[in-house]
Amino acid sequence: MSLAGKKILLGISGSIAAYKIPLLVRLLVKDGAEVKVIMTPTARDFVTPLTLSTLSKNPVLSVPFDPDDGSWNSHVELGNWADVMLIAPASATTLAKMASGISDNLLITTYLAAKCPVFFAPAMDLDMYLHPSTQANIARLISYGNFLIAPKEGELASGLCGAGRLEEPDEIFKILSSYFEKQLSLKGLSFLITAGPTIEAIDPVRYISNHSSGKMGYALALEAAERGARVTVVSGPVSIKADHPNITVIDVKSAQDMLDAADELFSTCNVFIAAAAVADYRPSVFSDKKIKKNYGNKQVAIELTTNPDILATLSAKKQQGQVVVGFALETNNALENAKIKLESKKLDMIVMNTLEDQGAGFQSDLNKVTMILRDGEQKETPLLSKSMIASMIIQTIVRSFPLQSQNL
Ligand code: PMT
Repeated sequence: MSLAGKKILLGISGSIAAYKIPLLVRLLVKDGAEVKVIMTPTARDFVTPLTLSTLSKNPVLSVPFDPDDGSWNSHVELGNWADVMLIAPASATTLAKMASGISDNLLITTYLAAKCPVFFAPAMDLDMYLHPSTQANIARLISYGNFLIAPKEGELASGLCGAGRLEEPDEIFKILSSYFEKQLSLKGLSFLITAGPTIEAIDPVRYISNHSSGKMGYALALEAAERGARVTVVSGPVSIKADHPNITVIDVKSAQDMLDAADELFSTCNVFIAAAAVADYRPSVFSDKKIKKNYGNKQVAIELTTNPDILATLSAKKQQGQVVVGFALETNNALENAKIKLESKKLDMIVMNTLEDQGAGFQSDLNKVTMILRDGEQKETPLLSKSMIASMIIQTIVRSFPLQSQNL
C-alpha cells in the first residue's frame, strides 16, 4: 500500500547502522510519506543532518531548544503530529532510556509524548544485543505496546557474526506499509465471531462439551481488530483473553445462549464468522439436583436433543452486503463434507480443517485449512500458526467480497 500522506517521525540514535537510514528516508519520501527526523547527539557522529534534511525535505531536529534564539522543538507537537514513530537504529542506550523513561534528549521526550504506534529497530553488536539488560529492555518496550522490528543475524560492523544487524531499509519500509494496510482495510466494519466450545449441562455438576480452546476464533478477532474493524466475540468458556480495544467479548455457555447473543448482533454485522465448536446435542432434561450414582446400574443413558444450528439460523437471515463464513471440522471425507456444509448452510465461504492433519485443529497453536468459496475457488494453507491462518482467512474475505461500511 502507498504511504502517501502518512506522517512518519523517524528517530535515529547512535549506532553505525545509522548509515542505512538515508536510504530508508528516500524510500519513504519517494512513496509520498512526510518524514521528520530527530537525531540523538551521538547519531550525528554516524550520519550527517544535512544528508537527512536534504532527503526528508524537512529540518532535522536534535535539541529541545535553540540556546541562541530560544526557539524550541515541542516534543508534544511532534508526538501528536506523527501517524507512526519509528526509532531506527535503536542503540542499547536508547532502548534503556525508552524502557526507563530517561528523557534527557529530544528523541526520548518525543517518544514519551507520542500518541501514535511506535516501532523500534535495535542495532548493535552481538554481545550488547544478547546482554540480559538489553533483552529485558526490549521485552519491556514490547509490553508497553511498542512494535519490535527484530535485528537480523549476519556480519556486524565489529567483524563479529550474529544477531544485531539493523533490518534492511526496504524490509522496514514493507513493515510500515503493511501496518498501514492492516489499519485501514477494515475500518468502519463490524465483525461478529463465535469462538470456543459450548457446554451443555446435564446437572449442576456435569456437562457435555468438546476440546475447543477458542484460539482460532480469538486469532480471527485479533486480526480483524488490528485491521480496524469493531469485533464482537460470542465466546464459549475458554481460558484465553482478547486484548485489543476494538474487541468486545460476550461470554456464553450453551449453544442456545450463543445463538441468542449472536442473533441479537447479527443484523448489524458486516461479516459473521462461526469458528465455535458448538455442541450438536444437549441433554433433553436438565436435572437441577446432582444425579446420584446408581451402583446397581452398569449402563446409564442420557437422552439428547438436537441443538439449534447457529450458523444455519443466522445465514438464513443474511441481508445483501453481509458475508457469512463457516468452519468445518472434519475427520474423514473432509472436502466433500465441507462442500455439503457450504451449500446446505448457504455460506459465502467455508474454512475446512481436519483432525487428520497432525498438529491442526483443537487446542493447538497451529492449524492447516482449506478455504472454499461459493464459486468453487479453493485455497489450501500449509500448517501455520493460528494467527497466520487468521490473517490469510481475513485477507481472503477482504479480497473476495465487496465489504462496505454501512448501517445494516
Ligand atoms: O478453538 P480451537 O481449539 O482453536 O480449535 C479450532 C476449531 C477446530 C474449533 C475451529 O477451527 C473449527 O473448526 N470450528 C468449527 C468446529 C465445528 O463445530 O465444526 P462443524 O463442522 O461441526 O460445524 C460446521 C459449522 O457450523 C461451524 O462453523 C460451526 O461453528 C457451526 N455450527 C455447528 C453446529 C451448531 N449447532 N451451530 C453452529 O453454528
